[in-house]
Amino acid sequence: MDALDALTADHNRVRGLFDRFEKAEEADDAAAMAEVFAKMDEDLEVHTTIEEEIFYPWARGLSDEVNDIIDEGIEEHHVAKVLLGEIEGLEPGADAWKAKVKVLIEAVEHHAEEEEKEMFPKIRGASSADDREQIGQQLEARKAQLGAPTPADADGMTKEQLIDLASEQHIPGRSKMDRDELAATVDAR
Ligand SMILES: [Fe+2]
Ligand SMILES: [Fe+2]
Repeated sequence: MDALDALTADHNRVRGLFDRFEKAEEADDAAAMAEVFAKMDEDLEVHTTIEEEIFYPWARGLSDEVNDIIDEGIEEHHVAKVLLGEIEGLEPGADAWKAKVKVLIEAVEHHAEEEEKEMFPKIRGASSADDREQIGQQLEARKAQLGAPTPADADGMTKEQLIDLASEQHIPGRSKMDRDELAATVDAR
């Protein structure tokens, strides 16, 4: 899969978790909030790792403009990691914990948006489809190594089953996704 599509799929899975967190908070369901946060923590850890290990170093060579956005991206990852570290030290469900999770969600939403709207179009314009496909394969292999969801987890599932799962996982844009996009976005483990 194209690297940019694979990373966008990760973003949408995390957006689904953000939405589930907000719903759990509205329902004052501390157990659900803690469960969803644990998934967010794991997904964000793997996603920032594969971007920093594989995707950013590759994209850096493409243009000065891309380089500048990547510098900013790395700082935004740093902010997310600091917040995740601080959240882990707080009592799940406590007011301070909820406040920090909400700030984390806002920071990551901003970062993912910037990648999709500013960084990815520039990378798409400066790279070949073959190269992006190759990087996409490397990203997927590393994700599998780190124990994160990959499209292979959805092998054998029908499109209808994937749509149901995407709905359960609050995946945004699911109604417009084809089978491959759904399989790349849901957590089918
Ligand atoms: Fe990122
Ligand atoms: Fe990203």
